Amino acid sequence: MTGSGYDQYHDDDDDTPSFDPRSSSYGDLNFLRRPDTPPRSPTGSSFTFTSSMHTAPFREDGGRLYNAAQDDYSLPADMQEINRLNIQHVAYRKRVGQNYIGPVDEHLQGQPGKKVLDIGCGTGLWAIEVGRAFPQAEFIGIDLVPIQPNDDEVPENVSFVQDDVTKGLPYPDDSIDIVHARLLVAGIRDFPALVREIARVLKPGGLYMFIEGGFLDAGDRRDLDQIKADMARQQNTSENLWRLAPGVAAWVELTSKAFTKRGLDPQAGFNVPETVRKNGSFGKIHTTLVDLPMSPWSTEPTMRQVGKLMYADGSQMPEASKLLVIDGLNMNPNEYAEYSARFMADLNDLRKKIVIMFPAHFTIKGAS
Ligand SMILES: C[S@@+](CC[C@H](N)C(=O)[O-])C[C@H]1O[C@@H](n2cnc3c(N)ncnc32)[C@H](O)[C@@H]1O
Repeated sequence: MTGSGYDQYHDDDDDTPSFDPRSSSYGDLNFLRRPDTPPRSPTGSSFTFTSSMHTAPFREDGGRLYNAAQDDYSLPADMQEINRLNIQHVAYRKRVGQNYIGPVDEHLQGQPGKKVLDIGCGTGLWAIEVGRAFPQAEFIGIDLVPIQPNDDEVPENVSFVQDDVTKGLPYPDDSIDIVHARLLVAGIRDFPALVREIARVLKPGGLYMFIEGGFLDAGDRRDLDQIKADMARQQNTSENLWRLAPGVAAWVELTSKAFTKRGLDPQAGFNVPETVRKNGSFGKIHTTLVDLPMSPWSTEPTMRQVGKLMYADGSQMPEASKLLVIDGLNMNPNEYAEYSARFMADLNDLRKKIVIMFPAHFTIKGAS
């Protein structure tokens, strides 16, 4: 392999959407509303402030923006992160073939006005795309920060609320038809409390879809229990990963330590389904292990394209996790830069078939 970086993977025939911030609907930084700007009307597919959020939405650290509402979530909230999350979203959609794994159609058919809540909605792309597919339903995305677009790209039936979901969900009991929550692991200390809130707001028979914790691994294992057993021996990584991509494994171990230090759960991907089970309000949990290649090492066209996208995502992960690790572990930035360089050396080596596994779960409230 020659050279490194995403550009070398960019084929001309690639239909991968470009998330160039200058050309996308995220391009106007003005939508990152400042605290002195009054909130827009909740009726216009836009943002609403709720009672728990009266602080400035962003703070700056080392050239990146972060949410200023609370300290639990320490990944950035800026244009670069919007780009990364959107790329990751598209990679997942391409791999799965759609935006969810669960009986969404079944839950949204019938009378109009069914309610879908996307908790920790990030850039809002999931709510926008699924909202477009189901115009008769109402979609609400909740996030700590207003990093969602508020222009014509947002369908009429989609709106965004700025709120901290650890303070409770601002909806009545039994009022929501579907809750979607994807990759909140870096922001939630108390998953049992969040699951209790989700169980409260969902209608009986409501659908809960969740994905927590992406496991970086090497090879082509597909069995969650096998990965779990392997990771238990190696703390937060697998023997597989240490053998084939030690730079990635060392970085995962480091970020896992930072998670633990911050009171977050690096094993949330395994533990959240157990939390949902223990909550007792839900029926059988259906799980699909979705594997995304972290670089274009596959010769299969879709996998290769997903690999290109995930390379663009993964190559930003060390930078995005910098504050999480450096502050969390009180680490010297130069030392962290060495971890990041070893991570990138592995990612750039297409002989290393590195994947990230997203276990996707769905369950029904009240089902036996
Ligand atoms: C890794 S991103 C995932 C975004 C989106 N779910 C996705 O899959 O693309 C996590 C998101 O959760 C949000 N978040 C973290 N803690 C939160 C909290 N307590 N309340 C609301 N949003 C939160 C962050 O602001 C961030 O946008």
